[in-house]
Amino acid sequence: MPDHVQLNPAAEDAADVLIPDVTGGLIDRSIYTDPNLYRLELQRIFARAWNFMCHETQIPNAGDYFINFIGEDQVIVVRGEDGRIRALLNTCRHRGNALCRAELGNTRTFVCSYHGWTYGLDGRLLGIPGKADFYRNQIDQEKWGLAPAAKVDHYKGFYFATLDPEAPSLFDYLGDVGRIGIESMLNHGEVVALDGVQKNVIDCNWKIAVDNLFDWYHVKVSHNSASRVGFLNQAAMMPMTQMVMLGELGHAIGGPMVTREEQARIDALSDDERIAIDRLPDAERLKVTPTLRRPLRSTDTKAAMGPVGVRATGHPNIFPNLWISTRGMQMSLRLPRGPGRTEIWWFTVMPKSFTPEQRRAAKKFITHSFGPAGLLEQDDGENWSQSTMAGQGVVSRRYPHNMQMAMGQDEVLVDATGQKSIETRVNEHAQRWTYRCWAEWLRARDWPELLATRSPSPIGRV
Ligand code: FES
Ligand SMILES: [Fe+2]
Repeated sequence: MPDHVQLNPAAEDAADVLIPDVTGGLIDRSIYTDPNLYRLELQRIFARAWNFMCHETQIPNAGDYFINFIGEDQVIVVRGEDGRIRALLNTCRHRGNALCRAELGNTRTFVCSYHGWTYGLDGRLLGIPGKADFYRNQIDQEKWGLAPAAKVDHYKGFYFATLDPEAPSLFDYLGDVGRIGIESMLNHGEVVALDGVQKNVIDCNWKIAVDNLFDWYHVKVSHNSASRVGFLNQAAMMPMTQMVMLGELGHAIGGPMVTREEQARIDALSDDERIAIDRLPDAERLKVTPTLRRPLRSTDTKAAMGPVGVRATGHPNIFPNLWISTRGMQMSLRLPRGPGRTEIWWFTVMPKSFTPEQRRAAKKFITHSFGPAGLLEQDDGENWSQSTMAGQGVVSRRYPHNMQMAMGQDEVLVDATGQKSIETRVNEHAQRWTYRCWAEWLRARDWPELLATRSPSPIGRV
């Protein structure tokens, strides 16, 4: 086994970093610009959390690999000869050179371009040029393998990794709300990831890009041009019926919901009716189904998501930075690249059961929505950059962001199965929850402390 130098990545002293109080819905702008806070985020959030790596269909064969990040730690996610998926830090153990330079591919070994150290798919150091002549055989090859992530696991084919050996299991980490987020991609059964991940950089803090995914307030204004050209149906995008689910550790879902009456109509569909509706092109399907939720596997889906989760058709965020979007067909990572820069990645997954026409229509819709060519993200990115940059001004930064919409105005309902939700209008509950949990992650020195001090998912008035 490779030598595993696993320090607790979150344990560095943070006594001199001021973590602002965010519980009153007022957000101190330093959280978007302070380099010390940013460093603490890398240690106590990204290095500690379960981070999304890839879908199993992106690396189906032995030797397939995909490069991703845990914060600013680059990792190679690779399927070994044994079929197992591992996550290895992409840094040569000799002088730290980035080992794998391609974003994805297939290989039998990883050979460093600097001095040629060669590693196997399991991270073991297989070869050292000049081992006998120059090292005089005085190097313990076994000890110099690639550093592996502490844990790698998947939920229904979606792979995650953590650098912290104390992290809870992925299943527990996701909790009810995180699992609903992933289940929302599986309403049609098994999915396949499409080739290509769209990537672009926006000059904004990563948290602004995250809190925006719950923001159904901006749609009418920011995306006015998209609706004027007929791309968006604004009424459907900003309905007055919204649901928020707040999960422990910061996971959340916020946005439109299926009302109980609409869900009863979906539940009453026969299997034949579901299949007939499911075969329609997307635009037609939306006319006959009451909402965006696809009904084909309603019974299975409901069992997996729960009676409340199945009605939450808004945007899930798996804390810290995985957004599931676009009718469950796109996933976006907001990867931190310094306090004022974020790399945005877009993955596409589609049901294996889609007909060629459905697939074509969905691809067209996706390409026009998000990613560098998406109508929506161009509008968003501009606003996020300006919101971040204004936090640099000596006086401007003294004025906090306002995140108080609907604060204290709504009630968390607990259904008979124990699922919690807020049924309301456009609001900022999920944003406040995200920042509250963000501060708790930063304050706790390690996983045991975080688990002991985190807020439980709220009940009662919020
Ligand atoms: S840095 Fe990789 S072999 Fe020297
Ligand atoms: Fe937007």
